[in-house]
Parts: sequence; structure tokens; C-alpha cells
Amino acid sequence: MLTAESHSVPTSSRVAIVTGANSGVGYGIVQRLLEHALDPRNEPLTIVMACRNRSRAEAARAKLLAQYASKDMKEKAMMAESALQILIVDLSSTKSVFGACEEFKRRFSRLDYLILNAGILPCDHMNIKEGLKNLFTRPAYVAKTGGDFFSQRQGTVTAEGLGEVFAANVFGHYIMIKELEESMRGSPCPRILWFSSTTASPEFFTAADFQCVRGDHPYESSKRLCELLAIDMHDELKQRNIYSFVVSPGNCFTGLLDQGWIIAACWVGVLYLMRFLFISGCNITPRNGATSAFYLACEVENPTALDPTKLYHADISPLGRRYVRELTLAAEDSKAVRSVRREMDELWRKFRAVAVRDGILAR
Ligand SMILES: NC(=O)c1ccc[n+]([C@@H]2O[C@H](COP(=O)([O-])OP(=O)(O)OC[C@H]3O[C@@H](n4cnc5c(N)ncnc54)[C@H](OP(=O)(O)O)[C@@H]3O)[C@@H](O)[C@H]2O)c1
Repeated sequence: MLTAESHSVPTSSRVAIVTGANSGVGYGIVQRLLEHALDPRNEPLTIVMACRNRSRAEAARAKLLAQYASKDMKEKAMMAESALQILIVDLSSTKSVFGACEEFKRRFSRLDYLILNAGILPCDHMNIKEGLKNLFTRPAYVAKTGGDFFSQRQGTVTAEGLGEVFAANVFGHYIMIKELEESMRGSPCPRILWFSSTTASPEFFTAADFQCVRGDHPYESSKRLCELLAIDMHDELKQRNIYSFVVSPGNCFTGLLDQGWIIAACWVGVLYLMRFLFISGCNITPRNGATSAFYLACEVENPTALDPTKLYHADISPLGRRYVRELTLAAEDSKAVRSVRREMDELWRKFRAVAVRDGILAR
């Protein structure tokens, strides 16, 4: 039986990894990349759906393939079969990330786009009173941050002792960059896309607690750290002809908050209302939220013309015209970021040594 792993990938094909590709914005990105890949005017493109759960990954892939199931689309269906590949990775486990990177290198000879989309926002409880107050007194704050409706889970660490949100949103992705950099050298113009959010304000991040184990906004802290890493790594990577940028999908209705259908329905209603009031970033669908990542991966031909200190934010007009808005990222304290990177490099080396000892990595 042919599986998502058994199709051979032509070495001339560009290769994109999308983490968290089975749902939400990641799924929207894969949808748009697949349409691009199936257009004969474009270069061949293989899309690697990097997901933590095999059955959810297979179900998402099957749903994408089902769009090409009719008889007159046979050729496209065959192309889509080989274009969509699956790689299993749990970003919260360094062992899983090292193992997935090794597997990627065995299966693919190059990497063109590393789209670091996967993310979590674990919430403890709702604060409806505070959220509603925000909605009437500070609607722009609600559009930008989602308001104070949800209280985040705090102080949780993974089985390996890393901050829960830091591990999934930042560190797993950081390891992927380190381990897959070599594969990007085979690409003419490789790009790394970090995912941030308009909520990622410097007020929620402190270098002293960069895993945000003590802070009360681990999600915003992790997103701010993604921005800082993208800016700080940009010049070094550029010397190796690799470009890193920060994107945001705006406000989309996805599983990120996972608070049940009643809250979800209210949230979608609020987002439509805000869109008609010309409040920025009310994209609502994951497909709309994919606009900025798709733009940076497939529409920008010359990444040297882009500004690494900008947030490339997916936006939409009240009538549904999609576009990318450039927002300026808050300035960084480069000394503090360097010290965080030194600590992250130490963690990477430490967990790498464990992966070598356990036979996950050869060296
Ligand atoms: N939705 C918004 O309005 C919004 C706004 C600003 C920024 N963002 C950012 O956009 C990105 C996508 O969010 P979304 O809204 O699409 O969220 P989502 O619907 O919850 O999707 C998140 C994806 O990440 C995967 N994931 C979570 N933890 C993982 C792990 N440890 N290892 C591997 N995969 C993991 C999930 O896999 P499972 O299905 O297995 O859980 C899922 O496929 C995130 O970085 C988020 O911070 C979203």
C-alpha cells in the first residue's frame, strides 16, 4: 500500500515543512501551498505536513486529497498524492524533534521553506466579566489580543522539564532550525517563517524567565521570543543565504482556544462585527490567516527586499479582500537576546547529547 511516506520525491522539487499542518492555520497554509503546487506554471513543490498525531495527520491529508477525487481531476489527484507528505513530530519532546529531523534528512535532499506554525495556548478558565468589559470599553484591544476572556495555565513543564508553551511554540522549532540548516543549503532561496501574534508585546517577556515558567502570559512570552529569535538570527542566517521572517495570521477561528462551540460561535460573530467596523486582522478562516505565510513562501521572489524587523500580518478588508500588512516589531535588547540564545544553545547541546546517547542521532 502506498502511504504518505512512500511516494518518491523528485530532487528538483522544492520542499516546504509546515508544522501543525493538520488543523487551523497550518491546514490553511497547506491548502494554499497545494493549490500552488498543482498549478503547472509553478515549480514542483512537496509539502511536508509535520504533525504530532498520525491519525489526525492522515485525516487532514485525506481531506485535502478528497478535493481532487472527481474523475476529471485524475492527474491532479496523482500530483497531490505525491506532493503531500507526512512527518510525525511532537515539538514538546526534544527526542521526537531530533528523530523527525533525522527522518526528514533521510527522505528529502533539500528544504526550501520551514514554516514554524504549530502552537499552543493552554487556558485554565474563562473570565467572562473582564472579557465583556474589554469588548465594550476597548474593542481594538480585543481585536489585537483576544481580550482578557481567558486565563492561561501557568508554571507547567514538559516531561523533560521545559516550560510547556516554550517547548511547543519555540524550542522544538529552534531545534528544527539547528538540525535542518544543512538541508536548506541545497535550496536557491530558503526561508524560515516564525509565527507570532499581535499579542506578543515585550511587557510579557523577560530574559530571566525566557521559558515563562513563573510568568502569567506564557503564550505571549513565547511569541515575543519567536520575534526576538527571528530578528537576532536574521543576519547570521543571511550570510548563509537563508532568510528568516516573522508572520502573524491575525484573528482566526481555530482550535487554539479550544473552548467549545458556544464560545466559538460568539467569537466568530464578534470577529465579523469587528471586520465590518474596519478593525484590522479579523481573518476568521484559517485560509485567510495563511495569507502572510503563503506570500512570504511563494509570492515574494526576492527576500532581500523584505525587512526582518517587520511583522508580516495577514489582513482582510470588510469585503473580504486579503492582503499583507507590515507592522513594525518592538525593538529588541540585543544583549539580553544574545544571552537567551546562549542558554537555548546550551539546552540544544544538552538534549542533542541525550539523543545521540539514545541512538536517535548518529552523532
Ligand atoms: N488563531 C489565531 O487567531 C491566531 C492568532 C495569532 C497567532 N496564531 C498562531 O498561529 C499558529 C497556528 O495556530 P492555530 O490558530 O491554527 O491553532 P490550532 O488550530 O490549535 O492548531 C495548532 C496546530 O499545532 C499543532 N501542535 C500543537 N502542539 C504541538 C506539538 N507539541 N507538536 C506538534 N504539533 C503541535 C496542533 O496539533 P494537534 O491537532 O495534534 O493538537 C495543531 O495542528 C500558532 O503559532 C498560533 O500561535 C493564531
